[in-house]
Amino acid sequence: MDFVTLIPNVEKVVLDTSYLDIQSVCLDGQALKHTVEERHPNLGSALIIELPAPIAAADTKFQLKIDYSTTEKCTAVQFLEPEQTVGKKHPYLFSQCQSIHARAFTPCQDSPSVKLTYSAAVTSPLRVIMSALQTSSDAGADGMTTYRFEQRTTIPSYLIAIAAGNLTGREIGPRSTDTEKFIAIGEELLTPYEWGRYDLLVLPPSFPYGGMENPCLTFVTPTLLAGDKSAVDVVAHEISHSWMGNLVTTLNWQHFWLNEGWTVFTERKIAGRLHGEAERQFSAIIGWKALKESVEHFGQDSPATVLKPDLSGGIDPDDYFSSVPYEKGFNLLYHIEKVVGGPAIFEPYMKAHVIRFAGQSITTDDWMKHLYQYFEEAHGKEMVDKLNTIDFDRWINGTGMPPVDPHFDTTLADACYHLAKRWDEARESNDLSSFSAKDIEQFSATQKIVFLERLTDCAPLPHHLLAKMDELYKMTPIRNADVRFRWQQLCVMASYEAIYPEIVAFVTEQGRMKFVRPLYRLLYRAKNGADLAQQTYLKHKQFYHPIAAQLIEKDIGLKQ
Ligand code: BES
Ligand code: ZN
Repeated sequence: MDFVTLIPNVEKVVLDTSYLDIQSVCLDGQALKHTVEERHPNLGSALIIELPAPIAAADTKFQLKIDYSTTEKCTAVQFLEPEQTVGKKHPYLFSQCQSIHARAFTPCQDSPSVKLTYSAAVTSPLRVIMSALQTSSDAGADGMTTYRFEQRTTIPSYLIAIAAGNLTGREIGPRSTDTEKFIAIGEELLTPYEWGRYDLLVLPPSFPYGGMENPCLTFVTPTLLAGDKSAVDVVAHEISHSWMGNLVTTLNWQHFWLNEGWTVFTERKIAGRLHGEAERQFSAIIGWKALKESVEHFGQDSPATVLKPDLSGGIDPDDYFSSVPYEKGFNLLYHIEKVVGGPAIFEPYMKAHVIRFAGQSITTDDWMKHLYQYFEEAHGKEMVDKLNTIDFDRWINGTGMPPVDPHFDTTLADACYHLAKRWDEARESNDLSSFSAKDIEQFSATQKIVFLERLTDCAPLPHHLLAKMDELYKMTPIRNADVRFRWQQLCVMASYEAIYPEIVAFVTEQGRMKFVRPLYRLLYRAKNGADLAQQTYLKHKQFYHPIAAQLIEKDIGLKQ
């Protein structure tokens, strides 16, 4: 590892580690004294390396060689045995470092305030890929190949990533795909794409997220492969991180919204450019509902609902993960866009934001200072008065829902709301003859989602209504994961036991936390569901990614 001193008289180097076995640390071939401190339950163990003599001058370069291995308890990677893979023949490995798992992969300064370049040489019998550009691969005589990588743009540690397995690839660019269009719009809106390649890796079903913006190589869940266009939002989102998050990075996890809120805002800009403003508004409506659910989950006075939460005291950022930074963040930017006079005025500012902060790690204060500075310089004092009408303190530090109702355009949502209302009102009558399969024939997958979401806001539906809806709309067999999730959620909220085996199937065939955590929680609380939830989890514990397993255990009362 290469270091440079920032201050004079550096005597020691402190790195983050978590469940690593450190064998030796050397400087110029000389072994150094080092200690691994006692473990903090969430943050891991500091590795303290004593330098043989203080380095007197700032800006001095030096290199440490650390020999170490990961251990069984590693939270950064999941190893799959051959029988856990689709092909059943080869093992598979993948990493997930965000938020604070890079330290379980390699000793590092595991904070997004520090940016680094990396190179790697990985020897394996199976194909290896990383969040970097591959520079070579040399096949050895022993069936092993050494793959070399370089990430030349500075990145925070949470973007280090690796996958290995019996991987195959398809060339899908450069000019005709949605992916290509998203990048082109990103470049038009912001700055040239910085990372050279853009590849997508579809992970095994236990991948705990929808997508992860590893540079050069986005990771995505296989639940996106529904045969419809449900994947595109997630890909537009991860591509947007190529600027928001990967170039302009949060200084620490308290300002995580600067990554995700800005990314959601950019993702929806891209959707708007491609499919029109109504589509952007429709996505924003879905986001608002997700935000409402997060606020309900934590409670409206909960510190976890604050845009810039207090994470001091060693809170694990994974425990605070929710729609709040995404959707409150989006809504703050959307509100500012409106206040300053709309997209034509706001979009040049987005570009200025990226240009100003690319390559840096920033706080909410840095962001806000530049916001004011930009608008004053570009549009004068009058604009400052406009910005001053925004209650920033409440947006940033207040709990619960945003202080302003966004009044999204409901053009695409109205049909969904209308149909949901009819079902909600039907609970009083015994006549369901007005419903037919035609009701949702013209609905896109997203409209089905909004319809189902709307119903989850009402009192639980009587079982005969759910049965009828399933009979007419054929909900249970739908494979689009987002629709399937919303349907199962609606049913389990009503303790509709016919759906329980379907839930068990869904939460054991994929491990995306967005789906499995709410379903486990709801099943755990549903009538005759608690035991089933726990038994299902325990039986399939090995299937889940360590990050997901830990959180599910908390969700269903198996762990504090
Ligand atoms: N960077 C996140 C995933 C993440 C966040 C992993 C925090 C670990 C800690 C990624 O960009 C993301 O937001 N994924 C979403 C996609 C969605 C918002 C389109 C997901 O996984 O659902
Ligand atoms: Zn994201």
